[in-house]
Amino acid sequence: MLSIESLTVGYGPVTALHEVSFTARRGEITAVLGANGAGKTTLLRTVSGLHRARSGSIRLADRAIDRAPAEAMPALGMAHVPEGRGVITELTVEENLRLGGLGRARRVRGGDLDLAYDLFGVLADRRAAAAGTLSGGERQMLVIGRALMARPELLLLDEPSLGLAPRIVAQIFALLRGLVADQGLTVLLVEQNARSALSVADHGVVLDLGRVVADEHAHVLAADDQLRHAYLGF
Ligand SMILES: Nc1ncnc2c1ncn2[C@@H]1O[C@H](COP(=O)(O)OP(=O)(O)OP(=O)(O)O)[C@@H](O)[C@H]1O
Ligand SMILES: [Mg+2]
Repeated sequence: MLSIESLTVGYGPVTALHEVSFTARRGEITAVLGANGAGKTTLLRTVSGLHRARSGSIRLADRAIDRAPAEAMPALGMAHVPEGRGVITELTVEENLRLGGLGRARRVRGGDLDLAYDLFGVLADRRAAAAGTLSGGERQMLVIGRALMARPELLLLDEPSLGLAPRIVAQIFALLRGLVADQGLTVLLVEQNARSALSVADHGVVLDLGRVVADEHAHVLAADDQLRHAYLGF
């Protein structure tokens, strides 16, 4: 689904990613793991067109997208949920969800709202509440629900578990698993929380200082004591 080849990305004199290559297969959850500053966010921002690579290529379903602007990504089937759970706090939960469906026909958008509510029951209960009153977990569900309103084939998630209770993280990851199984969604999941991410992912890519140091089945990574201690912190 997503194929990254020799991607080098920097900020001025800083090189954040060095010749990174890996593939995220269709209908799988691929976790991108690594410590602070490993380059995970830079990778997602480059894939979604918010930052330009210095060299290398990015292909989405066999189409070169490394020159495509961020605004073109929804139409190409990609949705990006950045770090930080940004919602419009003054708007209601439902209004925030509807924003994710703009650009799609009104008649399909109504159906997608129901889908989002089916997926995240707590959002249905709070649909008329201002988004600013939601808990961290509810906000994370809202930003994922909003991204799904665009009906993406590829969902990019940046640190969805950050600061959430383990029970909520488990709930959100179980929902992701269900989406992949039921709808064939492809997910690129960036996480520092490697233990949780590997419990839900099919595949894992480990970055260290902008370089790929492992690219393996999730269960193989989770069973590799040396790698876990050196790079994954568990
Ligand atoms: N806007 C920027 N300008 C300059 N350097 C940056 C910028 N953004 C990131 N960097 C640098 O690029 C490297 C990778 O940062 P990045 O944010 O991609 O890491 P990360 O893996 O997402 O880290 P974290 O787990 O803390 O979110 C770091 O050395 C960082 O300091
Ligand atoms: Mg980051």
